[in-house]
Amino acid sequence: MSTNTTDDKRKVTTIRLQQMKERGEKIAMLTAYDYSMATLVDQAGVDAILVGDSASNVMAGNTTTLPITLDQMIYHATSVVRGVKRALVVCDMPFGSYQGNSKEALANAIRIMKESGAEAVKIEGGAEVRESIERILSAGIPVMAHLGLTPQSINKFGTYNVRAKSEAEAAKLKEDALMLQEIGCFALVLEKIPADLAREVTESLSIPTIGIGAGSATDGQVLVMQDMLGINQGFSPRFLRRYADLGNVIVDAIGNYVSDVKAVDFPNESEQY
Ligand code: KIV
Repeated sequence: MSTNTTDDKRKVTTIRLQQMKERGEKIAMLTAYDYSMATLVDQAGVDAILVGDSASNVMAGNTTTLPITLDQMIYHATSVVRGVKRALVVCDMPFGSYQGNSKEALANAIRIMKESGAEAVKIEGGAEVRESIERILSAGIPVMAHLGLTPQSINKFGTYNVRAKSEAEAAKLKEDALMLQEIGCFALVLEKIPADLAREVTESLSIPTIGIGAGSATDGQVLVMQDMLGINQGFSPRFLRRYADLGNVIVDAIGNYVSDVKAVDFPNESEQY
């Protein structure tokens, strides 16, 4: 049984996330990539579901988010949308689908919205992708921005360490955050930056910020589902809280099934026709 206290069954929209910030109610966001898990995540009362390009890591086993394609993101988002009644569904635009050519970026964002039924897209980066974000926004597509550690730029950063520790990088992040709000993004993900900087950015913006490894002052939090459920067992950064040990639960359950099959204990009399 769910321990969540959300009684409000109304569909979450970008406007409702804005209202949550205004009344100081924290936003709970989690990733999902398939129908079955999205159904459970939605049932548990999460406000927004991110169909993250982290699917490249946790679903496909790649070491970075770079290989996942637009078609694959649309497949994941379509499956998630089918399972969701209440949460806002946001789909990541994958690497290569919005950098460089803003007309292509718009065409790709339209494909995500039309084919998957997702209600918003997420885009990594600030000034360098401004033109693409503006063009997408001009078509009435809500955009969630993403600053700090932006995993699609891992080859530029070289590591997944905390970002914006230097004054220069923090100043650029604050400038980008204001610009992204100014042009019309409805929310901003802040990934792996110092908690004090995340607090300053959150207080300076009227749109909600959603943190991951960015401390408690952001307007909401997001985690990758496989990480917080203990399915992705090899990943344990400081910011991650494990809410379950499903990896071991699954291995034990499947181990029991294997033993039962080998011992001709499954199926028994009542499990056959
Ligand atoms: O792809 C993803 O899961 C993300 C979150 C970590 C914010 O972008």
